[in-house]
Amino acid sequence: MKGVVLSGGFGTRLRPLTHTGPKQLIPIANKPMLFYAIEDLRDAGVKDVAIILGTIAPEKVQESVGNGSALGVDVKYITQGEPRGIAHAVKCAKKFVGDEPFVVYLGDNILKGGIGKFAKKFEESKSDASILLCRHKNPERFGVAEVKGGRIVGLVEKPKKPKSDLVMIGVYFFRKTIFKAIDNLKPSWRNEYEITEAVDYLVRNGYDVKYETVSGWWKDTGKPEDIIEANHLVLEDLPVKNEGVIEDEGSIRGRVSIGKGTIVRKGCFIKGPVVIGRNCNISFGAYVGPYTSIGDGCVLKQVEVESSIVMEGSRVECVGRIVDSLIGANNVIVSGSKEVPKAIRLVVGENTYLSI
Ligand code: G1P
Repeated sequence: MKGVVLSGGFGTRLRPLTHTGPKQLIPIANKPMLFYAIEDLRDAGVKDVAIILGTIAPEKVQESVGNGSALGVDVKYITQGEPRGIAHAVKCAKKFVGDEPFVVYLGDNILKGGIGKFAKKFEESKSDASILLCRHKNPERFGVAEVKGGRIVGLVEKPKKPKSDLVMIGVYFFRKTIFKAIDNLKPSWRNEYEITEAVDYLVRNGYDVKYETVSGWWKDTGKPEDIIEANHLVLEDLPVKNEGVIEDEGSIRGRVSIGKGTIVRKGCFIKGPVVIGRNCNISFGAYVGPYTSIGDGCVLKQVEVESSIVMEGSRVECVGRIVDSLIGANNVIVSGSKEVPKAIRLVVGENTYLSI
């Protein structure tokens, strides 16, 4: 089985972070989101992977994934160009997949528990497609399945009046019949070629479409709060590891992972689950609270950070409390006044200087 990972889209709801890079590279627990999809494919025995590139800094994806060998897969790149929907992106992989069954994994989805058992079941079947479904309290934000007597009877993309709470996760198993369905699509109301409509075409034309229900957590990371929640979920299972220097062991509580070359100075406090990358300097009164990820090469001083992601190379030296925030790479955030601000919430892009 081959794998197709989608890394396009505009990521509009994640601006300004997506002005400088695709959302699939935003780190969750210090690992680019896209890596979770690739690792799930590898763990399911999929070695040949194509990454479909969009228009926002595609070279950054190539730089970080390379030929895939570090992740245990063989990666090829296909340029989608202007994003015209998931079905369009899948069609770009037609030649790559050839006659083999394949799995499409949206690079902005994170799924606990992987896809191994679903992949095996699909490979052993003769089905044309298999989709993964999950119950969701806001089904209107997703593709929604109507299921009767254990069979899918219809699929609708972002329906105003959903017929069920079963939403489509961004992982799809296909055989080459899907390309016929894609060729029959017309652009949707949002002017995209919808994969949901392609699968619905298969259902309505008598092809064999199966589904599986996922019970663990699943996250589609379209908005800043989704990213922060995904970070929470991944950090829940964080293994404890310390490769850095901690001046006072008493300053660490709970599950904390600290990378090589990082120094945690006396007088700081870190309360897990927290991951801190390599070569960071956590000093003078900094507090890093639960569900926070600090990327490589960051400096934190005085500030209190909780439930946030601070990306690599950022320096945060300010008085105050930062919560539920996404701080991009290489930012400088310092105190501009002597007054102590209350907690603040930020979504900051890259290379920004903020005085607060
Ligand atoms: C896409 C699909 C939708 C699916 C979702 C999963 O939505 O169109 O059917 O439920 O991914 O993440 P989009 O991210 O394009 O809004």
